[in-house]
Amino acid sequence: MKHKILFVCLGNICRSPAAEAIMRSLSVKEGRIGIEIDSAGTYAGHTGELPDPRMRRAAAARGIEMTHRARQIREEDFELFDRIVVMDDSNYERVSRLPPDRAALGKVYRFVGFCTHHPQWSYVPDPYYEGREGFELVLDILEDGCRGLLAELDTRE
Ligand code: 4NP
Repeated sequence: MKHKILFVCLGNICRSPAAEAIMRSLSVKEGRIGIEIDSAGTYAGHTGELPDPRMRRAAAARGIEMTHRARQIREEDFELFDRIVVMDDSNYERVSRLPPDRAALGKVYRFVGFCTHHPQWSYVPDPYYEGREGFELVLDILEDGCRGLLAELDTRE
């Protein structure tokens, strides 16, 4: 079965492109096929930009390359993707206003719902105004949740 997953945060330059890159790296390592992954932000201000250099550096140190160009989520994404995975409550609220019908909201998931090692976190914290440790914490949470999400997906053909 084909899975189409869209990770969403505010700026699409820190958390969601990192989740996208980690998910892609994990699925390649595990030889999983049929997973389409993308990311987007609720805010358009960084459109076209590469991820934040601090996040790219922290991810590169873990062997993960980030090449995504930021874009804003749009209503059409509810048709193109079958899971829309948000980082925090503010993302959830903004994303929920996009589709014309409430049934589509069944596609919206909170990222931390897939984590098994970070029970104290009810959201993925925004690292934008944080130091190095903030980025490392976010990557730890993202690696945890991406493993959990991948385990849920049946990628047999
Ligand atoms: P992200 O982080 O939502 O994880 O990409 C942020 C990026 C940019 C801003 C805030 C958070 N900003 O205010 O520009």
